[in-house]
Amino acid sequence: MKQRMKMRTLSALALAVGIAFAVPAAAGEVEVLHWWTSGGEAKSVGELKKILESKGDKWKDFAVAGGAGETAMTVLKSRVVSGQPPTAAQVKGPGIQEWAREGVLANLDDVAAAGKWDSLLPPVVSNVMKYQGHYVAVPVNVHRVNWMWANPEVFKKAGATIPTTWEEFAVAADKIQKAGFIAVAHGGQPWQDSTIFEAVALGTGGADWYKKAFVELDQKALNSPQMEKSFATLRIVQKYIDKDAANRDWNLATAMVINGKAAMQFMGDWAKGEFTAAGKKPGKDYICMPVPGNKGTYTFNIDSFIMFQQKDPSAKSAQAHLAAAIMEPQFQEVFNLNKGSIPVRLGMNLDKFDQCAKDSAAEFVAASKSGKLVPSWAHEMAMPPANKGAMFDVVTGFMNTPSMTPKAAAEKMATAGAKK
Ligand code: BGC
Repeated sequence: MKQRMKMRTLSALALAVGIAFAVPAAAGEVEVLHWWTSGGEAKSVGELKKILESKGDKWKDFAVAGGAGETAMTVLKSRVVSGQPPTAAQVKGPGIQEWAREGVLANLDDVAAAGKWDSLLPPVVSNVMKYQGHYVAVPVNVHRVNWMWANPEVFKKAGATIPTTWEEFAVAADKIQKAGFIAVAHGGQPWQDSTIFEAVALGTGGADWYKKAFVELDQKALNSPQMEKSFATLRIVQKYIDKDAANRDWNLATAMVINGKAAMQFMGDWAKGEFTAAGKKPGKDYICMPVPGNKGTYTFNIDSFIMFQQKDPSAKSAQAHLAAAIMEPQFQEVFNLNKGSIPVRLGMNLDKFDQCAKDSAAEFVAASKSGKLVPSWAHEMAMPPANKGAMFDVVTGFMNTPSMTPKAAAEKMATAGAKK
């Protein structure tokens, strides 16, 4: 694929291949690349730093701002190509496999065996963390993406009801606008556009069609009546986004709902991290509900870290400490309480978590049983990054081109989904 870095020679020269971790020994430094820079995100990553430092290791922060991590991934590539990979980097989904194929990742099998990861992770998660049967990544959490965040006060003032279908949405959004509020808080950035679109599409075409289109990249499913209808619905949603949305960061859009300027936002539950950081309580100050039409479905997004091979023994041991700490109950609880996500480790006690998190955990299990648990393609979980990038271009192109028809957009989605 085009984007792929040509690093095989470099990695073969620079790094010893396939050596599993030695037993952790001396303390060392870890440089960690991530894109967690909003209020809630920074608090969450701060907890990881604290835990690592409590083990005597040093944390070197390598934060690259930019929602959904696109800029972070560009920076990561240039660091690795120049022979200076960080110790760990936030990388997800099929991206993990792509990096593993380059031969630059550390083998985490010893840490995983000591921590019993195989029995503590659902297979849908552990399979993604492994390359050719070996752990090369450690999972952090489970985010649900297809959420709607609503300000009940704004709905009340507008005399509107929180919607469960797109028909109800249009009725409510009209009332909200008439009452002088912004109906939908959104930031016009490609990943945010596709975050809304994937939920619209899931609700419109259903989980089986979604999997065919966005996981299997089936040409017929991509260029289909369901895809056209999804774009037609996106046009309706778009009517209720304010004029200043261009390039607005997602957390500023969340702040509009928190401050009562806007009624709702369609965003993954990292948005809850912002409500939490602002001291807001679910069910009282804000409401979490599935995106209209998404009841019973669940788009999952799992944050994870890949680890790069290290030569220095103290760096290796610090890296092993980091990997082990991420799967420990202490981290899984405190991080996810701040981040808005739920623990990825099975069997965790959720007593300290709020109702949105409890709902998320219950619905993850229910959707998995009913076949309605699907990976979020807007958040790197479903398809190779090159196809994802091409689909982002189509969705954002559609939103920025009022004359583009849903039919034309569906045709372009098929081209975007073709093998790159
Ligand atoms: C990540 C989240 C992050 C969000 C906004 C998502 O892709 O999974 O951890 O908070 O992007 O940057």
